[in-house]
Amino acid sequence: MTDHDPTEEAESSTMLSETRRTILKGIGAFGAVSVITNEFDQVSAYETNDHLAQTPPMGWNSWNQFACDISAELIKETADAMVESGMREAGYEYINIDDCWMASERDDDGNLQPHPERFPNGIEGVAEYVHDKGLKLGIYSSAGTRTCQGLPASLGYEEQDARSYAEWGVDYLKYDNCYNQGVDPRDRYAAMGKALRKTDRDIVYSICCWGKYDIYKWGADVGGNLWRTTGDIKPVWNANDSAWYEGIVDIIDLNEPLAQYAGPGHWNDPDMLEVGVEVEGYPGLSDREARAHFSMWAFMAAPLLAGNDIRDMDETTQKILTNEDVIALNQDPAGVQGYRLTVDGKQEVWKKPLANGDVAVALFNRGDSTKTFGTTAEALDLEDSAGNSSGFVVDDLWTKETRFTRGPIKDSVPSHGVTLFRVRQGTPDDAPSAVTFDVDGGSDSIERGETRSVTVSLTNDGRTAVEDIELNLDAPDGWNVSPQSAVTFDNAAPGKSIETSWEVTAPEQIDQGEYEFTLHASYTWDDGAKTASTSTVWELETLPAPPTGETYLSDHEWVDATIGWGSIGLDESVNGNVLTIGEATYEKGIGTHAESEITYWLDGTMSQFVADVGVDDEVTGKGTVRFSIVGDGETLTETDVLTNGDDPVSLSVDVSSVDKLTLVVTDGGDNINYDHADWADAQVLE
Ligand code: GLA
Repeated sequence: MTDHDPTEEAESSTMLSETRRTILKGIGAFGAVSVITNEFDQVSAYETNDHLAQTPPMGWNSWNQFACDISAELIKETADAMVESGMREAGYEYINIDDCWMASERDDDGNLQPHPERFPNGIEGVAEYVHDKGLKLGIYSSAGTRTCQGLPASLGYEEQDARSYAEWGVDYLKYDNCYNQGVDPRDRYAAMGKALRKTDRDIVYSICCWGKYDIYKWGADVGGNLWRTTGDIKPVWNANDSAWYEGIVDIIDLNEPLAQYAGPGHWNDPDMLEVGVEVEGYPGLSDREARAHFSMWAFMAAPLLAGNDIRDMDETTQKILTNEDVIALNQDPAGVQGYRLTVDGKQEVWKKPLANGDVAVALFNRGDSTKTFGTTAEALDLEDSAGNSSGFVVDDLWTKETRFTRGPIKDSVPSHGVTLFRVRQGTPDDAPSAVTFDVDGGSDSIERGETRSVTVSLTNDGRTAVEDIELNLDAPDGWNVSPQSAVTFDNAAPGKSIETSWEVTAPEQIDQGEYEFTLHASYTWDDGAKTASTSTVWELETLPAPPTGETYLSDHEWVDATIGWGSIGLDESVNGNVLTIGEATYEKGIGTHAESEITYWLDGTMSQFVADVGVDDEVTGKGTVRFSIVGDGETLTETDVLTNGDDPVSLSVDVSSVDKLTLVVTDGGDNINYDHADWADAQVLE
């Protein structure tokens, strides 16, 4: 957290926020809509640009990590890093400069000019540097009169700007949708598509209209090689419904149904990668979530445009971004966008047919606990016409293990995780039988000092027996685990399972949080001649004791808390002042800042939640927020959008039978600047 006041940021980003609010959420028209005359030719016949981007474009884009904080230096250093980190070798090619590269005005001849400080030697210099590294350069503009950051953009200047890009040596254009003046999107995007082709330079055309206008149906016809299918991505797993941006899971849900529109030369674009991106105000992704995000983007034949600072990334991030087997799925020449095969609650099986006849499978667990699930070779249409086969070889693209199965294709997948398999028919010379864990630990949370029994089974999915099986449960420090039955077994025949259980006791003194356990199985195969192993992760979340009687939540330990700016105030505002809403002051309560979620464990023992909520008076005349109360994932109540100076709103909500109570603050639809939000006198009553 930095200690600057968000009021400082507000001046510079107000216009952006206004634009985004209006366009992304369609709240209304911004400014006076004066429909400008089309100075460019009306496009009558459309033409595709499919000879480019035969596989989804791979590269990097400046926006997710750097926003407007860009420069020629950054672009050059990123090109260097692309080579040094092994990313170029792995297939990353485009270095794309997003918004803010241009000066605030065109020159006297109407030409776009680079920002004099950020790009003192123009775009050509950068292009040359990038090309010398064996890479390509991308640039950004908008099919509007201004970019989303209020800088000059290309509506009405399509041919002139396309000529500039081509002269500078640009290889890729991302073309946004801000300040579009209500002009028909087909005309706007076709005009640039046509102008780019007229340049005779191969320029990949990336249409960025946030999934609006059914773009996937006609984007290719106007020369688009890819088109955004969603609003802007942020480094969050799942964004709140009222947030202006999207999280990983939201985007997957928006992009998946469009699979039929993707193919070589024309791709759905679910936005750039958030792997390794760290920006203030957003929680970021765990390593497992980042792996799942990358896996699903690869699976959906999405452009793989890294969004992190690749000059300075940790090993995990680098390994995720350069996993060649996962990239091979993405770059598969058949160009099929993977799609859902089956859904069972929060567990999804996805399929992606590959050019060489193999089938890729993603087992995606969007739920909160480890689950065992999967599919079969038959359901994947991998059996031969007679319905029989010798078996199937399964490559795990993250663990790099190869296994042999007689048909079941499944895995034990931890929360927010993905298992990626590449499956083919055949008998490998040297692959152990596949075995699969199934863990049942009851609920996924535990109170301090509590003892819980965990049942674990291991199933042989192969064609031959596995022998000398040994199971192990690795617990985090301080936890007590003791087996309740045998942990070694002579053998398991194909299709058979073995089962054991452990008692797990949480320490009395331990920080609240998630604790990871690892289950291991080692076994022999090939009549005992060879050994193999497998493992899975299982997690428990420790919980504070529930409140009793009448408890002010500012006196009670939370399970989880996030805040969009600053740190949460207990019995004070986010800026450390007396909690004050509409001139009413409060001694007790919680001072927070949008976007914020604070979760308490009630264990179904409380009956009522009460609070007075509103924007704190410490921001004068600013800030818009919405308060909602969520019980076990369901919204129990929410306020209207409240703003500074409004009287406090008194909430009283029935929480009987609620285990987890979450106090949520979202921004009122603009941005989070000035959103100082108070839960005054917040109390639960037994
Ligand atoms: C829009 C786009 C983003 C980014 C910004 C730049 O929000 O959707 O991807 O290009 O504009 O201002």
